Amino acid sequence: MKKSALTILSFFCIFAMSGCGNSQTDSNINSDSTTKNTTAEPNESEETTAGNSDIIPISESVTTPEFEEETDSTNDETLVVYFSATGTTKGVAERIAAVTNADLYEIIPAAPYSSDDLDWHDSNSRTSIEMNDSDARPAIASDTISLDSYSTIYIGYPIWWGDAPRIMSTFVESYDFSDKTVVSFCTSGGSDIGRSGDNLKDLANGGNWLSGDRLDAGISESEIQDWINDLN
Ligand SMILES: Cc1cc2nc3c(=O)[nH]c(=O)nc-3n(C[C@H](O)[C@H](O)[C@H](O)COP(=O)(O)O)c2cc1C
Repeated sequence: MKKSALTILSFFCIFAMSGCGNSQTDSNINSDSTTKNTTAEPNESEETTAGNSDIIPISESVTTPEFEEETDSTNDETLVVYFSATGTTKGVAERIAAVTNADLYEIIPAAPYSSDDLDWHDSNSRTSIEMNDSDARPAIASDTISLDSYSTIYIGYPIWWGDAPRIMSTFVESYDFSDKTVVSFCTSGGSDIGRSGDNLKDLANGGNWLSGDRLDAGISESEIQDWINDLN
């Protein structure tokens, strides 16, 4: 009697252990299929394990997903935007575009700046008046540009009175920089970029703005490449 009771007990133990082993295997298989984004309808085995978050049921409808090809390859291009009143920033912008294989976009003022306009000795010159008015927004004559295909945008300008020309404010307020990396750069008679890039960032709609730099008028393409490599 005792012996047969022991035999029955052993049988149940082996049965129970073999059941546990299966659950472990199922769990392994299913965690694999989870990373493959498998979709499965609830089935019987799910019902029997409901409430046990450690044991995930195996599904008969496990499918191996097909690898999707990267189709959205058009939004990773580079754009160099610049405004240049006397050509210095333009030259640097063109070299950045050459190094980065970028498109160029020139911000052309609706009313071009004459040499009188650019006279910083005259407190009544157009630029003096504009730079004294943080709300000034000189109009842009260039066609608008779609930024959709660009992930990185360099924005260049001359320093005027320690800041970016107000037409740069017009530009950055006109576009959405969400999901773009934006790098400002400037040329100047010696002043650093200062807060000019941050000021544009504050006016802009979105974007990951890296801290920009003043670049020498005569900067070479290899120096530009070094500068880009050092951007964080
Ligand atoms: C109205 C005006 C204000 C300027 N203010 C500064 C300044 O504050 N600091 C500086 O170093 N250079 C200043 N400059 C010099 C320009 O930043 C410099 O010549 C620049 O490289 C010109 O670029 P562009 O040829 O692309 O217009 C100023 C120039 C102008 C016309």
